[in-house]
Amino acid sequence: MFLNSLAEAKPGALFLAPPLEEIFPEAARSRQIRLFVLRLDKIHPQMGGNKYYKLLDSLQVALAQNYRTLLTFGGAFSNHLYATAAAGKIFGLATLGLVRGEPVMPLNPTLAFAEKAGMQLHYLDRATYRRKNEAGFIEALRNQHGDFFLLPEGGTHPLALGGTARIYQQLPPEVDFVSLPVGTGGTMAGLMTALKNGQKVLGFAVLKNAGFLWGQMQLLLQQHFALVGQTYPPSLSDWMKARATLLLDYHGGGYARVPPALIDFCHQFEQEWQIPIEPVYSGKMFWGLWDLLQKGAFPEGSRIVALHTGGLQNKPA
Ligand SMILES: Cc1ncc(COP(=O)(O)O)c(C=O)c1O
Repeated sequence: MFLNSLAEAKPGALFLAPPLEEIFPEAARSRQIRLFVLRLDKIHPQMGGNKYYKLLDSLQVALAQNYRTLLTFGGAFSNHLYATAAAGKIFGLATLGLVRGEPVMPLNPTLAFAEKAGMQLHYLDRATYRRKNEAGFIEALRNQHGDFFLLPEGGTHPLALGGTARIYQQLPPEVDFVSLPVGTGGTMAGLMTALKNGQKVLGFAVLKNAGFLWGQMQLLLQQHFALVGQTYPPSLSDWMKARATLLLDYHGGGYARVPPALIDFCHQFEQEWQIPIEPVYSGKMFWGLWDLLQKGAFPEGSRIVALHTGGLQNKPA
């Protein structure tokens, strides 16, 4: 039903196939473990990373149904707001960004880019922002702004899973583990639907007390399967456990909390492997992955692909 690539929807838009780079940390080499980094961040300078895949099917639907406007929600540093603003510019759609909190001037690089790309920014106090999923609130927004295609916060909703499942097509054959940072679980849940027997997704939660994400992913999967008319096993949680592990101990103190040890790790990683990472998402994933490698958590000879999910515009200098 959907095009496989947004490039087909917009001839001339430059979306590159993500390169696969192999790196050789000692803790992997010594156990004949091969470690690859899938550079989703290189797909597009502003609409790359997991955001490309998360927006894929929504954009196809919005364009097919002749919507003129995308409306979405995010914090002031939201990579999703940034990517949605870029998508609107590329595909000729107006964008409305509802931002949590008060405006802070000058705008940070994320919001400055979004505004420059044409996104209309509206600020919501925290209590109002919490109503972002209420039908009545969305209705009031439609009365205020006219019709729009709604992208929930983080772009995470059942439609996003069909897109993130397609990351699987970029993996090499014979992969055993796919690792990625987890915010809302949309990317991880989509990947679960694509795995073949025995393969496992390792999700590193970037927020504290993130156990609730398991239930959230279960709900997303149920909605996704209903949307595509696919039956799913009665115990969806067992089905998930067979293909995914959510790691809860590498949040570094909470969302966007960046302890000095993590900063040091990110600097060393970049120096050694010449791959830029940032500490909120990709940094925490590699930090956790290194710890697991050092603890011998992977069987000898495993093949691991770590997803670089982007977010580099928020990288501290
Ligand atoms: C750079 C980056 N990596 C990973 C994630 C996590 O994706 P998800 O929310 O689908 O778990 C996000 C944001 O949500 C992100 O911005």
